[in-house]
Amino acid sequence: MIHIRAAGYAATGGRDVLEIVDLPTRDPGPGEVRVRVRHSGVNPTDWKSRNGAIHMPIPEGAVQVPHLDGAGIVDAVGPGVAHLEPGDRVWLWLVAFKRLEGTAQEFATIPAELVRRLPDTASLELGASLGVPFITAHHALTLRRGGPRRLGPGALTGTTVLIAGGAGAVGNAAIQLATWAGATVITTVSTEAKARLAKAAGARHVVAYREQDAAEQIRRIAPGGVDIVVEVASAVNVDLDLSVIGQHGDIVVYANNGGDTVTMPVRSQMAQAVTWHFVLLYSMTAADLDDAVSSIDHALADGALRVGEEFGLPLHHYTLDQIGDAHAAVEAGVVGKVLVDLDG
Ligand SMILES: NC(=O)c1ccc[n+]([C@@H]2O[C@H](COP(=O)([O-])OP(=O)(O)OC[C@H]3O[C@@H](n4cnc5c(N)ncnc54)[C@H](OP(=O)(O)O)[C@@H]3O)[C@@H](O)[C@H]2O)c1
Repeated sequence: MIHIRAAGYAATGGRDVLEIVDLPTRDPGPGEVRVRVRHSGVNPTDWKSRNGAIHMPIPEGAVQVPHLDGAGIVDAVGPGVAHLEPGDRVWLWLVAFKRLEGTAQEFATIPAELVRRLPDTASLELGASLGVPFITAHHALTLRRGGPRRLGPGALTGTTVLIAGGAGAVGNAAIQLATWAGATVITTVSTEAKARLAKAAGARHVVAYREQDAAEQIRRIAPGGVDIVVEVASAVNVDLDLSVIGQHGDIVVYANNGGDTVTMPVRSQMAQAVTWHFVLLYSMTAADLDDAVSSIDHALADGALRVGEEFGLPLHHYTLDQIGDAHAAVEAGVVGKVLVDLDG
């Protein structure tokens, strides 16, 4: 039995619960794939699971290997897996969800449906940055009644999308996907540096909300109103969102940054027929997840998705031994994508 290095925790808590452990590798069973992980992507949900804010129970005596996202090389495939073979470069999604095996380990043995082949043009760093942000962004952009269930070129032509916090990981993903789908993309950012990143991601209009009257700017850009708002901080942005939303507009909330309670008028929204959606990756249906992952593969094949500072998402690399620092960076709201690199 070969042992591998992994990061893990036996109980939830602060960053000090993270430790480096030796785990036995497991041969893939029916429908499973073993992947040699090269990059493990870190998202806010990973530290929220680690500290217990998101409840992911750990059985007595077990170790939770964290992280949902990752990328690497297929090492072995189990019986019944026809679409993957050893040597394939792949991206991984939702790996640690209801599963002790996350991506913060040298090899992960996981269900084949969580393993997607990367085109030659896509780096493993991009692969490890896709799952949580891009699936969430895709879901947010496809909830509109009468709108497309899957994005593709032209799917959002004629649609104006306002993305709050366009330099965030989900914000960046929403900009890239909406731009690829042909939407007119407006985004808000807090600083000049973030404005540069949002522009680099492809946003046509970037509004620095601390320096300008954001509502006035957005109304000038979209006099008919915005069709979809992708919102990270509804408690603080509700007035802005309602002052720019168009008739039959949709406001999609994917986080409670800035506060968990929203106070809003009712009557005016009835007249405007505004629809609010509250979304959580963990509550998406299998069909919604399949739509998102399939669209992401389509966008990858089109060469439409990118990461790195020049595309609006600076990369921050950590070793496995530095996983505590990697979590600290995400907890502190680092701008860009945090990756834990697995050598080999
Ligand atoms: N619902 C889901 O399934 C789902 C999926 C993924 C992420 N999330 C959640 O979404 C949030 C963002 O995730 P992320 O990975 O995109 O994080 P991130 O990379 O740190 O980006 C967060 C962005 O939020 C913006 N923001 C606006 N108002 C804020 C406020 N009051 N406090 C903090 N940030 C504010 C910031 O942009 P400005 O400085 O420009 O305003 C920042 O760039 C996290 O809370 C995460 O847990 C939820």
